[in-house]
Amino acid sequence: MITTIVVVLVILYFARSIYNDFIANNNDPLSNQGQEATIVEGKFTPKSLAKYNGKDHAKIFIAVKNRVFDVSQGAAFYGPGGPYENFAGRDASRGLALNSFDPAVLTPLDQPIDDLKDLSKLEKESLEQWEEHFENRYKVVGSLHENGTVPEEAQSL
Ligand code: HEM
Repeated sequence: MITTIVVVLVILYFARSIYNDFIANNNDPLSNQGQEATIVEGKFTPKSLAKYNGKDHAKIFIAVKNRVFDVSQGAAFYGPGGPYENFAGRDASRGLALNSFDPAVLTPLDQPIDDLKDLSKLEKESLEQWEEHFENRYKVVGSLHENGTVPEEAQSL
């Protein structure tokens, strides 16, 4: 009798953990399924990128030379209250080139994408080093566009 009760309890225990695993996999927002579902487009405009700032949307994206990186892993840097939160959801290229996180350096959302033409050689080099840093650390999730085109100069810097 006792053996039967123990066997039933063991079966119930395993059934419960299998059920819990099933629920967790289906609801976990950090599972692969959840992550893919949040990336709705590979082509961003400055305005559509802006919502990926860690506030309006949990994900944080940043554009560097018209490539959009998912920097959510670096939320301590770019999330609300972080030292570089001004870059969240924005084209950070000029800020990185000038080594400045001053909001005045960012291109306003209603203006054309920065073509970065006026950067000095040193500023271009600084931007390239930052670009490498982002390539090594974060995943590209799309590109920044305006009226369907990317400014030529910014592509070939
Ligand atoms: C007061 C001067 C500054 C200090 C003390 C400082 C400190 C730091 C530190 C400790 C890190 C982390 C490095 C690592 O773990 O890889 C970092 C990363 C970074 N800093 Fe600064 N920083 C300063 C100024 C700036 C400025 C002016 C910019 C503007 C472009 C900037 C942009 C960045 C970026 C983009 C990262 C990379 C974060 C990432 O990996 O996603 N920093 N900084």
